[in-house]
This record gives sequence, C-alpha cells and structure tokens, in this order.
Amino acid sequence: MKKTLAAVLAFGLTLSSFGALAAEGTVVVTGANRGIGLEYARQLKAKGYTVIGTARKPGDAGDLKAVADRVEALDVADPTSVAAFAQRLDGTPVDILINNAGIFPREDVTLDKVDFDAFERTLAVNTFGPLRVTQALMPNLRAGERKTVIGMSSGLGSIERSNGRWYAYRSSKTALNQVNKILSEEFRDDGFIFTVVHPGWVQTDMGGANATYTVSESVAGLIDVIEGLGPEDNGKFYDLKGEPIPW
Ligand SMILES: NC(=O)c1ccc[n+]([C@@H]2O[C@H](COP(=O)([O-])OP(=O)(O)OC[C@H]3O[C@@H](n4cnc5c(N)ncnc54)[C@H](OP(=O)(O)O)[C@@H]3O)[C@@H](O)[C@H]2O)c1
Repeated sequence: MKKTLAAVLAFGLTLSSFGALAAEGTVVVTGANRGIGLEYARQLKAKGYTVIGTARKPGDAGDLKAVADRVEALDVADPTSVAAFAQRLDGTPVDILINNAGIFPREDVTLDKVDFDAFERTLAVNTFGPLRVTQALMPNLRAGERKTVIGMSSGLGSIERSNGRWYAYRSSKTALNQVNKILSEEFRDDGFIFTVVHPGWVQTDMGGANATYTVSESVAGLIDVIEGLGPEDNGKFYDLKGEPIPW
C-alpha cells in the first residue's frame, strides 16, 4: 500500500481520490485548536470524517469549533482531565486517534541550560500525554474499525540523526517512539496499528515562519500516509512522504 501511494506521488497526482474512498470514521485529534492539529481537523472534516478535536481552552477554540463535529476540553498532561475526557467519550467508537498535542521548550541547547522542571513538563506532555490518552481511549479504539493510533513524533527524536541540542524535546520524542513500539507489539494481534510520524519542519507557532512546509502541505502528506497504513506499518516511524525514519 505504501509503495502504491509513493508511486502515485511520484507521478505528481494527489491522493485525494484515494482518501475519498477511505474517508469514513471518527478521528480524535488532540491539541487541535491551532497549528498542525487544527489543520488535521480541517482536512479530515473536508474528507468526510467525523472530527472530535480537543483544546485545553475550548472557549478560545473558535477556529476549531468552526470545523470540528465536537470540541472537547483536554489537557493531556492532567490525569483528571484525561479521565473526564474519556468519560465524555464513553461508548463512542474511535477509528483513528492522533496524539498531536506537544510542546517544545528550546532553552536547553547546552548542558548548563538543562532545566529539570521543564524537562519533566516536556515528558509529561509529549510522552506521558499520548500514552495516557491512548490508555484512556482503549475501549473506544477497540470499538472502532481502523484501530489506528498516530503519535506526532519528530525527526528530532531520531537518535541516529541527532546532532545535539534540545535535551528535553528530543528525549521526549525518542521515548514516544519507544512507547509506540511497545504498544505496537502488545496490541499487534488485536488488529491495532500504532505508527509515529514526523510532519517535517512546519510553519506553526512551534515551527516558526521560516519552516520548510506550510501546515497545509504537511498535513495533506500526513493524511495520505495515515490513510495508506496497513498492518505492516504497525510500530514504524515515517515522515510526511511515507519514507521511513531511522530510530
Ligand atoms: N511544527 C513543526 O515543525 C513540528 C516538527 C516536528 C514535530 N512536530 C510535532 O507536531 C505536533 C504539533 O505541533 P505544532 O507545530 O502544531 O505545535 P503548536 O503550533 O505549538 O501547537 C501545539 C498544540 O498542542 C497543544 N498543547 C500543548 N500542551 C498541551 C497539553 N498539555 N494538553 C493538551 N494540548 C496541549 C497546544 O494547545 P494550547 O494552544 O492550549 O497551548 C496546541 O494546540 C507536536 O507534537 C510537535 O512536537 C511539529
């Protein structure tokens, strides 16, 4: 499937026709009030998915409210908030969970700048957050047809590609990748697909204005990748073009 998608891309065609065929089901996107998460909500809704987008402050999430079917309050680092969110979704099948919410503190470029409180906070959001949300929504995912969980990782989490800087962020994404791999093994026989993806360097509040990709380009690529995932992609790490990234 992945090779087929890559071949289509190589011929310069869009994959929207593929997406239209496959576009059914309910998607939960965390951190969907801005950036990549909001664009996921926009593009997935346009493809016909039912979109449940989360925001820490739903009252301020006007852009998300304009596109999503449901907007739910969720702080992925707060166990009480995650439990309450799962309670509100009780009985709702979820086909795809996109663990998108994340933070990137940038001060810790050298050893003397490592801030352990910031490091803990980064792990709480970027690593424990996706795991906690996945754990809480497991009944919903089991009830869904696709049983797909996407972790928004980063190329900065690749140890092989690491060239230093950002102790906390890189480590949080490396750990997320390992968590994803463990999940992929535990639930392989239940038909789940756990995949981590790298969106490229994207023009959001996090990526900044000089980033390589517009949010629209990045998310279009990511959705093509997600829609093309099969059992063979369980436990893998891909970029927005579906190319594997070394661990
Ligand atoms: N942009 C890039 O170049 C890039 C590259 C590689 C990977 N990524 C990853 O892609 C994902 C999205 O990035 P982005 O560029 O869209 O970032 P962004 O523009 O900074 O948006 C981050 C989103 O995460 C939410 N969030 C932060 N902490 C949260 C928490 N504790 N609970 C729930 N939501 C929380 C934010 O909500 P608030 O508005 O409430 O803060 C916001 O909706 C992240 O996981 C990031 O690490 C991005």
